[in-house]
Amino acid sequence: MASAIEVRDAQRGDADALVALWREMATGDGHPPRLPSTPSAAAVEVAVGKHLDDPFGRLLVGELDGAVHAMAYLRRTAISPLHDDFTVTVEYLHVSDEARRHGLGKALIAEAAAWAEHENCAHLAAVAPAIAREANRFLARLGLGQAGVLRFAATHTVRRRLAAEHAPNLLALLSSRRSAIARRAQLARPLPADATDVRYPAAPGSAGT
Ligand SMILES: CC(C)(COP(=O)(O)OP(=O)(O)OC[C@H]1O[C@@H](n2cnc3c(N)ncnc32)[C@H](O)[C@@H]1OP(=O)(O)O)[C@@H](O)C(=O)NCCC(=O)NCCS
Repeated sequence: MASAIEVRDAQRGDADALVALWREMATGDGHPPRLPSTPSAAAVEVAVGKHLDDPFGRLLVGELDGAVHAMAYLRRTAISPLHDDFTVTVEYLHVSDEARRHGLGKALIAEAAAWAEHENCAHLAAVAPAIAREANRFLARLGLGQAGVLRFAATHTVRRRLAAEHAPNLLALLSSRRSAIARRAQLARPLPADATDVRYPAAPGSAGT
């Protein structure tokens, strides 16, 4: 008998199943080590409630014979800052090891395509780690071509690197800006009555850089 597949929006009661899926995803072969650590069931319950009220995002779960074995997060965003068109992006697509090749992955992508059509989004995208060969083959067979590489880091890491590479220039720029502002403030102050009324133009912002 064929397995029964159902795709629906995640509910608060799915928290434990979602935690288990996330843990598997974070420790699985195809996923990069930069995935956020596994959240608690309580945190997931709160997050699920938030998604249920969000018109621009949906957290889906896929059931196989009545048990949750898959998840995907759909996000509806403008395709670019300069266009009106919207796109639906599939993120965190994951089917548990034991439930693969039963149609859950395709059922989740089919729901994403149905939502995109319903919301008049002409485009569909999916985020997959470059190293996940199985997932990339799966998405390519469904017509999704590679469009870019997503890079990820902690904000403080990028700040630290920027500071290490550009610190002398940034400091020089900040100090020249500070002196230009101080000169302008001095020139703007009213002169004492007995002072000779000679004013010099303010130095340009780039002076001293
Ligand atoms: C990629 C992934 C989502 C696919 O999920 P899945 O549930 O196995 O996908 P499906 O079962 O719908 O399709 C997989 C293949 O099994 C086949 N299949 C589906 N039902 C089947 C069945 N009853 N019997 C045999 N084969 C079947 C499909 O035809 C498909 O073959 P194709 O790729 O040659 O077309 C899943 O393998 C996964 O989670 N991988 C790891 C996670 C990952 O890397 N995610 C990154 C984000 S994309």
